[in-house]
Amino acid sequence: MARSPFFLLLRFSTWPAVLLFSFYLVSDGAPAQIGAGSSISLPTELRLQGADWWPRKAEAPREAYVGTATCAKCHVSKAAAQVTTAMAHASMSAVDSESLRKHPTLTFSLGPYNYELESNASKSTLFVRKEKDVRSHDLLWAFGFSHMGQTYLYEQNGDFYEAHLSFYSALQGLDITPGHERTIPKGFDDALGFRQPDTEIKRCFSCHTTASITKNEFNPAHAFTGVTCEACHGPGSDHVAAVKSGQGTGAIFNPNQLAPVDSVDFCGACHRTWQDVVGSGLTGVGVFNVRFAPYRLENSKCWQKTRSNLLTCVACHNPHQPLVHDSASYDSRCLQCHGAEQGGSKKIAIHQRACPVRTSDCVSCHMPKIEPPNLHSAFTDHWIRIIRLGKPYPN
Ligand code: HEC
Ligand code: HEC
Ligand code: HEC
Ligand code: HEC
Ligand code: HEC
Ligand code: HEC
Ligand code: HEC
Repeated sequence: MARSPFFLLLRFSTWPAVLLFSFYLVSDGAPAQIGAGSSISLPTELRLQGADWWPRKAEAPREAYVGTATCAKCHVSKAAAQVTTAMAHASMSAVDSESLRKHPTLTFSLGPYNYELESNASKSTLFVRKEKDVRSHDLLWAFGFSHMGQTYLYEQNGDFYEAHLSFYSALQGLDITPGHERTIPKGFDDALGFRQPDTEIKRCFSCHTTASITKNEFNPAHAFTGVTCEACHGPGSDHVAAVKSGQGTGAIFNPNQLAPVDSVDFCGACHRTWQDVVGSGLTGVGVFNVRFAPYRLENSKCWQKTRSNLLTCVACHNPHQPLVHDSASYDSRCLQCHGAEQGGSKKIAIHQRACPVRTSDCVSCHMPKIEPPNLHSAFTDHWIRIIRLGKPYPN
């Protein structure tokens, strides 16, 4: 099936190393370190070559991962909260999808093709009918907690296919999967799904599951579903053994030691770093790049003039807790720099000025929600700025 240019947005493939290096050198002049302490955003592919742990690293053997249930024995409250996050449910077996269970029959039509997605306790099957012909596939994986949407994978002859239809929460129904052609399919094969190249499939799993690639070998059957403790902290068996034998609590990666730029790149291992977005040309795609929070955030004057730990992802989001939707709760972050008490005097630097317009609910105006076409969901624009009517979306 032919793919629209937006295919790139969701899964850009591995770029040649040469390209990576040139981007990384031009961005700031000074050669940066791959490990902790770099002053500019780096491509994730480069981070993965460093010696230290980094999310999506694939070298450790499967036995080195112990699973969240083991971490939960000691880190009780963190684990209890983390399992309720969207990240912990970033993937699941299709039979475990709540969205599908709540909707035992979903239908859709596209030209002469009529779809039915039938789910029961033991399986979910996508049927496509055209006149008297029927084709079907049992779905294997569901990707996405479906805060916004959920996409399905099935297997055929050892290859993974991405179903042509995804579930969208806003619709409580089906529509075409992001990145797929929106035209009438040319045949049954196109109507059912798209064969994802192996490299792409590995990338999906490396961001949406834990330990699907170990010793550099892809084995989704051995993965923990979702983004669990060890997706961020790295394999935990050494840590657990050390704690149990009284040898201290080290031997595990604690991201709180990271400098601000590294900390944002750390989340960017999956959310895409500023450099990942620039290096893959996604700066040209307009509102579709609103999904890439690190890229948007690092374009803000707030960030560029400070690179402060008051503005890293973890300054606003606790990765062990569900996303906070109360917009006013983010005010304290802004007010750490934009002192409210100073009354907006023009005599002081902008970053110390209070807002001339309002004293609360900062993000509702300065981090607006944007809905890219056909995605049926709104993303928060992390490019903090003054929004003026009629001004185009800054790319
Ligand atoms: C047998 C108990 C035990 C288990 C199991 C355990 N931890 Fe720990 N861990 C501790 C203790 C005790 C500390 C030190 C006190 C604290 O930070 O809570 C610690 C500290 C940590 C730290 C901070 C380390 C540092 O150097 O600052 C991280 C990160 C961590 N644990 C993650 C994990 C993860 C992830 C798992 C599962 C793979 C896990 N732990 C399993 C007991 C345990
Ligand atoms: C291993 C990959 C990975 C890493 C590392 C990662 N994320 Fe995520 N994150 C995801 C995926 C995948 C989703 C989408 C989850 C879903 O809705 O299915 C997500 C979703 C989120 C959400 C949205 C939650 C919601 O309720 O919609 C927030 C906020 C978030 N991540 C913050 C962070 C922060 C902060 C960090 C760094 C500390 C981080 N992430 C690191 C993969 C990752
Ligand atoms: C580089 C890491 C990465 C790769 C590769 C990746 N994703 Fe994601 N995915 C994320 C992150 C981070 C989010 C949350 C932010 C967003 O929605 O863009 C997400 C969000 C999603 C969502 C929406 C989740 C929700 O709760 O609404 C779906 C569906 C999804 N991804 C499916 C896929 C599929 C299918 C693939 C592979 C064909 C894939 N992703 C590849 C990181 C990745
Ligand atoms: C999305 C990435 C992510 C996931 C998933 C994650 N953590 Fe963390 N964790 C972090 C980051 C970033 C920090 C450092 C910043 C902070 O303290 O919030 C951290 C810090 C910690 C610390 C040290 C706290 C301290 O005070 O120094 C512990 C212990 C910990 N995590 C345990 C866990 C356990 C247990 C799980 C699974 C239940 C887990 N984490 C899942 C990203 C993650
Ligand atoms: C200044 C505070 C702030 C910082 C810093 C921040 N975020 Fe957010 N983020 C928000 C707010 C506010 C929302 C919207 C919450 C809501 O209303 O649902 C949000 C929402 C999200 C979502 C959910 C999808 C969406 O677009 O609404 C993801 C994913 C996310 N942030 C990831 C990140 C990552 C990764 C970083 C680091 C690059 C980051 N955020 C830094 C404030 C922040
Ligand atoms: C770490 C300190 C820091 C934090 C935290 C911070 N800012 Fe800023 N902000 C700055 C600096 C520095 C500037 C640039 C001032 C200048 O141009 O001289 C700035 C500029 C701005 C501007 C003007 C931008 C423009 O394009 O002209 C707005 C609006 C703004 N910040 C709003 C916010 C909001 C809302 C938050 C919370 C979501 C926030 N800031 C958090 C430091 C910060
Ligand atoms: C109702 C929408 C709205 C809310 C809510 C809001 N602002 Fe603003 N803010 C604006 C507009 C509009 C401007 C541009 C004013 C002008 O220059 O005419 C602005 C300007 C600013 C500036 C630039 C000031 C300067 O002198 O250049 C900063 C910094 C800022 N806001 C921070 C904040 C912070 C912090 C909060 C929360 C405490 C906040 N804003 C809440 C709409 C809002």
